[in-house]
Amino acid sequence: MALPTINPTDTIAWNKLQAHYQETKDKHLRELFETDTNRGEKFSLVWNDFLVDYSKNRITDKTISLLLDLAREVGLESAIKNYFDGEAINQTEGRAVLHTALRAAKDEKIFVDGENIVDEVYAVREKIKTFSQAIISGERKGFTGKPFTDVVNIGIGGSDLGPVMVTEALKFYKNHLKTHFVSNVDGDHVHEVLKELDPETTLFVIVSKTFTTQETLSNALTIKKWFLKSASEKDIAHHFAAVSTNLEKISEFGIADENVFPMWDWVGGRFSLWSAVGLTIAIAVGHERFEELLAGAHEMDVHFKETPFDKNIPVILALISVWYNNFHGAETEAIIPYTQYLSRFSAYLQQGIMESNGKSVDRAGNRVGHQTGTIIWGEPGTNSQHAFFQLIHQGTKLIPTDFIGYKESLHGDVDHHNKLMANFFAQTEALMNGKTPVEVKQELEGQKLSASELEALLPFKVFEGNKPTNTLLIQKLTPKSLGALIALYEHKIFVQGIVWNIFSYDQWGVELGKQLAKNILLDIENSEIGKHDTSTLQLLQNFKR
Ligand code: F6P
Repeated sequence: MALPTINPTDTIAWNKLQAHYQETKDKHLRELFETDTNRGEKFSLVWNDFLVDYSKNRITDKTISLLLDLAREVGLESAIKNYFDGEAINQTEGRAVLHTALRAAKDEKIFVDGENIVDEVYAVREKIKTFSQAIISGERKGFTGKPFTDVVNIGIGGSDLGPVMVTEALKFYKNHLKTHFVSNVDGDHVHEVLKELDPETTLFVIVSKTFTTQETLSNALTIKKWFLKSASEKDIAHHFAAVSTNLEKISEFGIADENVFPMWDWVGGRFSLWSAVGLTIAIAVGHERFEELLAGAHEMDVHFKETPFDKNIPVILALISVWYNNFHGAETEAIIPYTQYLSRFSAYLQQGIMESNGKSVDRAGNRVGHQTGTIIWGEPGTNSQHAFFQLIHQGTKLIPTDFIGYKESLHGDVDHHNKLMANFFAQTEALMNGKTPVEVKQELEGQKLSASELEALLPFKVFEGNKPTNTLLIQKLTPKSLGALIALYEHKIFVQGIVWNIFSYDQWGVELGKQLAKNILLDIENSEIGKHDTSTLQLLQNFKR
């Protein structure tokens, strides 16, 4: 069954939300907390070892109830069923969207074209296990008989960002193997990585769903050439593995069948880390932890699929984000993890969220009349506090922000962790409450300032507050809790796509630049430059000079 094509702006709930926005837009969060002593608990959800506190948002009971009505009116319930059941909800590419099947329970049955794909998924999971264990234990060796010491993931976009982010996030759990990532077609990237490597002890994992991506193929060929300076063609079989749906192209590259990991077209690149695309993760932290990551995601899948909307974390967070995006006019959302391990988390989510929901045509093929995908950005706290928090606190833009923090630190340094978390809590409180002119005045009165100096300084020291945040407080950064966290955002993406009436699982918008680059490469390599606008032309001429 196709997804519904309901224009959200035509729903009763949307119109009520518009009126509700007018009624509530001047309310300050401080006032909302003062008038509701139970607000913190009321607008929080506890699930496994997650506490999700969404009370510091510009919402009331009525806001949530209208947003939930909106979700119902746009047909979210049946859409969720279509998503998990493997309907071809990626309609413009005629594909199902089944990253959830990659972490399904073994006895689940999910059919695509009459085949139960869970069996295939588990066969590949078994292969990941055998392969990663053999590399980690040293049982599989390089062409001179030495065990592997380094693993290089060659891929870009979804074939890079997930493995990079998770490998970094789970660094604490890593084994002795060093992991490297080559993604950019910028040759300086690959050559910098190669500088550190010994061909005798390095394993290369080429990850490309299509196996046609310019960046990945160029990097793979450059690496192959470098490798062949020390080894022979037959050694490629020991040192290269590949993950792709394009098995023909892999074999042209010379990779041994036993090192080939299939992927399926029902997995989108940006949702693929759960498949063999995560091979580098499994090698870096071990197969058991990779399985725990999947188990955490699966638990979040079950929560999302089975929990009533008012207690459903991805649904609630998605709807609150719609509230800011479509009614308050917020353009961006910041994601601030208070752990250095998640330093690549917002970069990862940028692809997940912006490639999915950066669309302007609705599911009926018409230009949308409402805002869609939010701009995502962020860096870990506390570093981000010393970089861009000024703008969140006192700038003119409304930036709803997710704070993600952990109760336990991994190295157990209580002193550092308490300081870190004190900042974590302080920021959300400061963003919410701000500092009033009266409070600033009281503070300044303690200093030796003249009355006119005090008056002059006062406006700069006022914080309006009323800045919305969600707080995700999680027990500990483990493979399992990380899996659940990623899956939470994946489902948030889905819910928002349904509400905005767009297709979240294609990415036609990245094609035009790729096509033009192919032609421009000819302009660069050949003596003649083809037809261009005067700006591009002069830039090309200058580059070639
Ligand atoms: O350029 C966008 C994109 O198609 C992403 O969606 C994808 O993750 C990336 O390129 C890499 O594609 P592939 O895995 O086929 O090399």
